[in-house]
Amino acid sequence: MGNTFSTKKKLFFKKSKDGNYIIKVDELQIDRLQQLHHILKICCNSNFISPISQDLVRGIDVLDVGSGTGTWVFDVSSDYPKSRFTGIEIQSFMLPTIRPSNTRFIYNDILEGIPFNHNSFDFIHMRCMVLCFTDLQYDKVIRNLVDLLRPNGFLELCEPNLYFKNMGPATKRVMDELSRLLRARSMNPSINDRLHGYLKKYGLQEIQQNDITLPLSELDGEIGSLLGQNMINAVSALKNLLAKQMNITNSEINQLFDEFITETKSIRMYCKYTMIYGKKI
Ligand SMILES: C[S@@+](CC[C@H](N)C(=O)[O-])C[C@H]1O[C@@H](n2cnc3c(N)ncnc32)[C@H](O)[C@@H]1O
Repeated sequence: MGNTFSTKKKLFFKKSKDGNYIIKVDELQIDRLQQLHHILKICCNSNFISPISQDLVRGIDVLDVGSGTGTWVFDVSSDYPKSRFTGIEIQSFMLPTIRPSNTRFIYNDILEGIPFNHNSFDFIHMRCMVLCFTDLQYDKVIRNLVDLLRPNGFLELCEPNLYFKNMGPATKRVMDELSRLLRARSMNPSINDRLHGYLKKYGLQEIQQNDITLPLSELDGEIGSLLGQNMINAVSALKNLLAKQMNITNSEINQLFDEFITETKSIRMYCKYTMIYGKKI
């Protein structure tokens, strides 16, 4: 197989004008996503958990959904130069313009349709989309991704649970409000707990799930410090929305966030990430 790509018919479902990602992507968020990629890679000692390394060495077709800055695609494509990587992303300005020859990035709203035939990919990866899809959309996206997979291909997902363990009172208040904000949009802060059911529902086999608990406090060292700050940067992007929902003033929300930030320095809080894959038979 050469390094050529073909895009054919679309798989359609309900139209949406824009994605639902509730965080406005700016430079801070781009840095945050890149940093998060490296934190997850260090913590998992890998960029994926599916048993697909040998196929990647041989050369297969890989899709990354919601590819963001393209960091996952860049990283994995350099490890496996014979495989062909496609990233799809709804924010056109995030699409990399300079890229390795075995990669391409496509502007696409996955909620509108996917410009590929059934059975087009051997490995599909989707990570950290909890703030992008409603429960129903997540379910439909999985169904469509399974259609895109070739037999013997793997679908791999990774999502955090936004109810942290051992939250301090200010953190709990912020995260409870965030959950309320998500639920009002039919989104699920614990979508990670649904992933196994989705893979099973759409017939994937040999499902394997790894739940890892990652620190959010500098009391747990450098990873805790970095991931805690990363989480603060994500939630801070929603500060105005949260203040509006809580009907509180700017100074009240700032005070709440100051307490929340202080708690990440003084309380050992943890976030569960679920990594899961299944095989199409
Ligand atoms: C939290 S980021 C995760 C990025 C990447 N998966 C990673 O792990 O670094 C979510 C990304 O999905 C993109 N996105 C959101 N809704 C989308 C949609 N409907 N279709 C394609 N991309 C979407 C966002 O623009 C954003 O870049």
